[in-house]
Amino acid sequence: MSNTYTSNLHVEKATTSKINDVDFDNLPFGKIFTDHMFVCDFVNGEWQQPKIMPYQAMSMEPSSRVFHYGQAVFEGMKAYKDDDGRVFLFRPEENFKRINKSSARLAMPEFPKDYFFEGLTTLLDLDRDWVQSGVGNSLYIRPFVIAIDSAIAAAPSEDYRFMIICAPAKAYYKGTVKVLIAEQFSRSASGGVGFAKAAGNYAAQFYPTSLAQKKGYQQVIWTDADTHTFLEEAGTMNVFFRINDTLITAPISDRILDGVTRKSLLQLAEDNNISCEVRPIKVNELVEASKNGSLKEIFGAGTAAVISPIEGFEYQDTYYDLPEIGEASYSSVLKQKMLYIQHNLSEDKHSWRLEIK
Ligand code: COI
Repeated sequence: MSNTYTSNLHVEKATTSKINDVDFDNLPFGKIFTDHMFVCDFVNGEWQQPKIMPYQAMSMEPSSRVFHYGQAVFEGMKAYKDDDGRVFLFRPEENFKRINKSSARLAMPEFPKDYFFEGLTTLLDLDRDWVQSGVGNSLYIRPFVIAIDSAIAAAPSEDYRFMIICAPAKAYYKGTVKVLIAEQFSRSASGGVGFAKAAGNYAAQFYPTSLAQKKGYQQVIWTDADTHTFLEEAGTMNVFFRINDTLITAPISDRILDGVTRKSLLQLAEDNNISCEVRPIKVNELVEASKNGSLKEIFGAGTAAVISPIEGFEYQDTYYDLPEIGEASYSSVLKQKMLYIQHNLSEDKHSWRLEIK
């Protein structure tokens, strides 16, 4: 991370806004983008002048290394609007640190902090009308970095592009989901890139997830690649299990993403005297808990989905149903607490909000 860059942000405003064409009540996730985007290229070993410009298609050489080797990382963050029209980010410093951690793992240059925050806050200020108020509404923000030099040798690119695009969002998953516990496929391996938000981590999930979907499951719960006996993540999210009154989630490792929602939920659980254990958890423990009735809840946690309750899981051809707990469930209680902080409806005792002024 370098703070030696002083931003000289260039802003080109869109002449007209697309916002009146958007049906905010029927938003497909991640398909409609705001009026502006942020772009900054890394050329000749240096980040160049950052720019905000109207959202538009870009032209790239077919030989750009991102197309051949997937040298690309991304982040997911959200902005929220309160009932007075004030716009807030949630823990943006965490996303800034993580994108640079991801970049470092993929041999990509780290992005300067000043550029990140000036670009992000200026972009959100320009597109603030796109952040709708009301719990359940948000603006999904997608920073990403791609390798753009035109050379197809299997080596790190010399040139990169850092961008931020934004999409108004509602719920990512509708209702509860059923999941299949992975017995054959893996999302990550020890020593690999599972902890990074590397684009390829997500592409690698598409095929096993499509097989699970054919069997009627929306997502896969990923297990460790070596033994397929430890529960690690759920789809694109971290995963929590409630056995009796204790929440359990796997420790982060080089295979598991250090989720911002995950760490915020652990803090909120502690604040609300919910007992938590961060420890390896085996599939057998889950199956046993389901059989003896002590398994109360499973939920995924991530920026896009916030908290996604799971209604049941399949493992070794047997389906295990979870009880319906409703409003008293930890997932409902923690989700509400989280959303209230994000939307400036409750005290922010950990200083997680950053207002866009
Ligand atoms: C997020 O929750 O922000 C993610 O990165 C998931 C994404 C693949 C939609």
